[in-house]
Amino acid sequence: MQTPIPFYLDEILEKVRYQDGGAVADYIPQLAAANPSYLGAALCTTTGHLYSAGDDEEEFTMQSISKPFIYALALQEYGLEEVRSLVGMEPSGEAFNELSLNRDDHRPVNPMINAGAMTVTQLINGVDSGVDERVEHIRKYLSRLAGRDLTIDYQTCDSELEHAERNLSLAHMLRNYDIIQDDAHDAVMTYTLQCSTKVTVKDLAVISATLANGGTQPITGEKILDADVCRLTQAVMSSAGMYDGAGRWMAEVGIPAKSGVSGGLLGTLPGQLGIATFSPRLNTEGNSVRGVEAFKLLSQEMGLHLMATDQRYGVAPIREVEIIDDTAIVRLQGVMNFSAAESILYRLEDYEITAEQVLLDFSQVTTVNRIGRTMLKEGLRRMREAGFKIGVIDPDELIKDRTMRDGTQVRRDDTEDFMIEGEELW
Ligand code: DON
Repeated sequence: MQTPIPFYLDEILEKVRYQDGGAVADYIPQLAAANPSYLGAALCTTTGHLYSAGDDEEEFTMQSISKPFIYALALQEYGLEEVRSLVGMEPSGEAFNELSLNRDDHRPVNPMINAGAMTVTQLINGVDSGVDERVEHIRKYLSRLAGRDLTIDYQTCDSELEHAERNLSLAHMLRNYDIIQDDAHDAVMTYTLQCSTKVTVKDLAVISATLANGGTQPITGEKILDADVCRLTQAVMSSAGMYDGAGRWMAEVGIPAKSGVSGGLLGTLPGQLGIATFSPRLNTEGNSVRGVEAFKLLSQEMGLHLMATDQRYGVAPIREVEIIDDTAIVRLQGVMNFSAAESILYRLEDYEITAEQVLLDFSQVTTVNRIGRTMLKEGLRRMREAGFKIGVIDPDELIKDRTMRDGTQVRRDDTEDFMIEGEELW
């Protein structure tokens, strides 16, 4: 069977192709020369399946789409407290290049507007880093997120730097208040080179899927960011990623997102997937016209709104309950979060178990979050209290800390008798 997802993506692109309003960004001469008819989309699941349609091999510069990822890197390198002492987390409701800082402490309001993004960039590779070393550090990191070696479009960068008075004035303002230490020209140079990193729409889907996946690149398997960092970054994207249109965006589309003036648009569904579109014509807020429409359709037609009350995790968390001799094996699958654990414990409460021993089998589980782990361990403990022998089958050691609430340990029982060997479930 051929998967229908590329066809769904194609259909969505065809539905938005007729939209020829808006204009390519012209404040950067190199972007003004872009082909306005390019149109592409890609989707990458947190399990590493990548689908794409349209102009999916075309490279363009990341521009502002780089901002959340550099924010994530700063959080990873410095921690929230230090980063927050320099840049806030509030939506600004202003344009991306607004000349604005907090009135009281002069911090930029958030890391998605240029003032905040430049501040965050200055932290990378240590505050004393030179421009070249910092840019290379950023390029290598973005390449790890994409899973391939990304390059910088120096022509676009030079072209932007010829007209960078606004960003320079922001950098001077930041220096005036001791928010950044670098020379203003160096700060703008570094930020503009970061914005000039070239990607395809497929790269963007993979990069955003890495955030959605808690920092593990879903195709290479490399752990790049902490899950907490990804949570914070996506939270800021949801309130500030679409600038002055952020509130309307969350209501209508409901996908934490980030746009760039070269026409890229990227979104994350935490725990599920990353999506991206590319179409260079922009609306007055600086977002891709067709990209915005495509995201609205993706949200509606593929049921991707984060706030939808039916937003659950695809697979039923209990795959089956198998009885082998005196043991009931509860075979779990997918993501073990609050909802999954709640549903498992609810089912087990009413399940008439006649066996002496109950084992929870995690061999087909993809991830277990803290609350999922806590709830499932507590469920096991209560079963033991009710007279059952309990344990887990956990070949990948997803339950790293097996201590239960009463200080005793959940026993691991990875004996071959109870394992499903080599079975492909998806
Ligand atoms: O700072 C700038 O002007 C650009 N290099 C990036 C702006 C951008 O992509 C804003 N997003 N829509």
